[in-house]
Amino acid sequence: MGMNYSRISDWILGEDSFDPAHLGKCEAVMSLGNGYMGLRSATEEQYLGETRDLLVAGSFNKFDPDEVTELPNAADVTAITLWVDGERFSLDQGTSSGYSRELNIRTGELTRRVRWTSPGGKHILFSSRRIVSLARQHDIAMTVSVTAEENDVALKIRSGINARMTNTGSQHFSEGEKRFYDRKYLQLVERTTQSGIDFVINAVHRFSVNGDAVALPADVNIDRRIIYADYTVALKAGECLTLEKYANVHTTRDLDYAGPDVRALQVQSLASLRESESMGYSALAAESAAAWAEQVWDTTPIEIEGDERSARDLFAVRFAQYHMRVFVPSHDNRMNIGAKGLSGEGYKGHCFWDTEIFLLPYYMFSDPPAARKLEEYRYLSLPGARRKAAENGYRGAMFPWESAWLDDGETCPLYAGTDILTGLPIKVWSGIIEQHISADVAFGAWQYGVICGDTDFMERYGYELIMDTATFWASRLDKGTDGLYHINDVVGPDEYHEHVNDNAFTNYMAHWNLCKALEYADKLKRESPALYERLDSRLDIESNCPKWAEGAEKLYLPQPTAEHILPMDDRFMQGEYIDLSKYKAQDFVGGIMKDYNLEQIQKLQVCKQADCLVLFYLQEDLFSPEVRKASWDYYVERTLHDSSLSLSTHAVMACDMGEEAMAYELFRKSCEIDLGPVMTTSDSGIHAASFGGIWQCVVFGFGGVRMHGGELRINPLLPKNWTRLGFTLIWQGEKLHVVVTGDSVTVKNLTGGKQVTLTVNGEKVTV
Ligand code: BGC
Repeated sequence: MGMNYSRISDWILGEDSFDPAHLGKCEAVMSLGNGYMGLRSATEEQYLGETRDLLVAGSFNKFDPDEVTELPNAADVTAITLWVDGERFSLDQGTSSGYSRELNIRTGELTRRVRWTSPGGKHILFSSRRIVSLARQHDIAMTVSVTAEENDVALKIRSGINARMTNTGSQHFSEGEKRFYDRKYLQLVERTTQSGIDFVINAVHRFSVNGDAVALPADVNIDRRIIYADYTVALKAGECLTLEKYANVHTTRDLDYAGPDVRALQVQSLASLRESESMGYSALAAESAAAWAEQVWDTTPIEIEGDERSARDLFAVRFAQYHMRVFVPSHDNRMNIGAKGLSGEGYKGHCFWDTEIFLLPYYMFSDPPAARKLEEYRYLSLPGARRKAAENGYRGAMFPWESAWLDDGETCPLYAGTDILTGLPIKVWSGIIEQHISADVAFGAWQYGVICGDTDFMERYGYELIMDTATFWASRLDKGTDGLYHINDVVGPDEYHEHVNDNAFTNYMAHWNLCKALEYADKLKRESPALYERLDSRLDIESNCPKWAEGAEKLYLPQPTAEHILPMDDRFMQGEYIDLSKYKAQDFVGGIMKDYNLEQIQKLQVCKQADCLVLFYLQEDLFSPEVRKASWDYYVERTLHDSSLSLSTHAVMACDMGEEAMAYELFRKSCEIDLGPVMTTSDSGIHAASFGGIWQCVVFGFGGVRMHGGELRINPLLPKNWTRLGFTLIWQGEKLHVVVTGDSVTVKNLTGGKQVTLTVNGEKVTV
């Protein structure tokens, strides 16, 4: 690979030379965060083309009535400008050597280092450290050190809080108060224009020379949307100045906001800043690193041993774990995971089916409380889902394709991209007709309930999610002339085919949803009459049951062809077959859109992403091995992987097909989506679902783990170059440690609370 930004050793992702043409890559892949907020890792000194994002989970705002709501880019605290004898420190000028920027995923710390000679010939050594604390959700801490290497230098440093930030031009905030307290503490308040959330951002600076504290007077400036201070210091040759900057971010949407108004928050957040400041950077960083160990690395470690490639493979899955902790709002059930996590403005912070199908598995098996929060969010967003159903003439809960704040309902934009032939914006149909999301949400709730053994969740939220989505499906079905029900005019997972009928994934998932609701209604009526009555009074189960039953009985389920291929919809297989090798060879996605418009693509046998294959993966028992194999061969050839969700599903399926070499190749490609050499893929943020996918490749694919029909099974298939794979699974409250080698599978119950029965390579075992 050898790209400068992806030097990987052990726990470190490093870049060894600075590339001002591709700033987005490291900003995103090295982004920091703690689920409450995400901070892109922009450099201290500023460059043209940078994207400096600070995103607070759930703080949605609508900039304009014609736009959809998005996570606003809050005021920046990371920019620090430095002048060396009047010359601005910038790698664009002068000369530099020994450059490195490193993210340590084990500790969550970002560091930089470079020797720089100014155009005027002054030598300095610049280094910096930065964390977003995992132990204190509001805290950011950073240091910058400057050593005068050969000459005496006069330094000027400018640092503060800058609210002149936008989301690609949209300004989401009204300006609030800016204050300078005790000649030391900077505070800036800003309020989102439509949702009315107050953000309070504080910062304080501390200086030392050669380790001894020095008090540098602050020359403070308050201007439009900005507050900053200038500091000057004269360094003798050999001396080192260190600036420590402590900052914190609070909003009136925070769960721990006690009110009554923003003024109280101003006082309280300042007090907490003083406390962090008094701890100092090293203690804060150590405390945060300890939280990383406790929450992630010691709880669900993954071990991979094998040839020289396996170290990079291990890093890739740990890197996925790192980001999955950075972007999961496990502190608050009113928010979910954006498609780009908290690392960029892409997809506006909205969540999709990515959560249930791609990310939830990791949390269910590694961090059940976080998984529960994600599913509680779906429950809390039922009002928006019910509104969407009603607005479309349906009943029950029709989940939005894209979700943001709880009661926002559908937040999918109406237009995106450009039609290559007409020059017009392309209409996005997903928000209107990509309806499988409702079944995906129900499926997620069911999986969570079973895998985490959480009956309390099911009783409070899970049954209701499953039943009200079933009611939606029952009202959504179209009666055909054949006397059966069909689901016409939808977009399935493969978004290159719109307005199709009977998309196999959608129909089978809807069918599952209807059957599950029936099964639970029957079970609760018999076993938990009080709960049944409570649900019935809300969901009208008694009169809905017959509708679910009729829907389930008469819903048309696409059947395999004589060649055993499952048609993904009523049209695809009649489409024109074209040679896709040109697009498959491209190192960017969506190349086909440069040659064909969507209307033309609809008529081709070409898939953007896995469609039927996701169904095989979720509900393998429904299809014979013959059907799965024939369909696999057919669709693999026709799929471009133009969505980051596609490769990992294929990798897992390749394992199921016994195609180990292909699985490994697909797994490596999944890892390259963000870690690979293409420098622009992560500009608008990392690919959250693909991180869930990478973990699934390892644990579900090579590890062969799956939950089917409520039971756990392990059928591993190691890649040839791995000799050992170890991972931890939390199954119904018991922590299992699984080790797979070329010829053995060992499962240990680390909790030992209760016996766990599972199937390993077809054999029932109890641990
Ligand atoms: C994919 C969807 C996905 C969305 C967000 C789209 O490009 O086609 O399946 O949910 O991105 O990741």
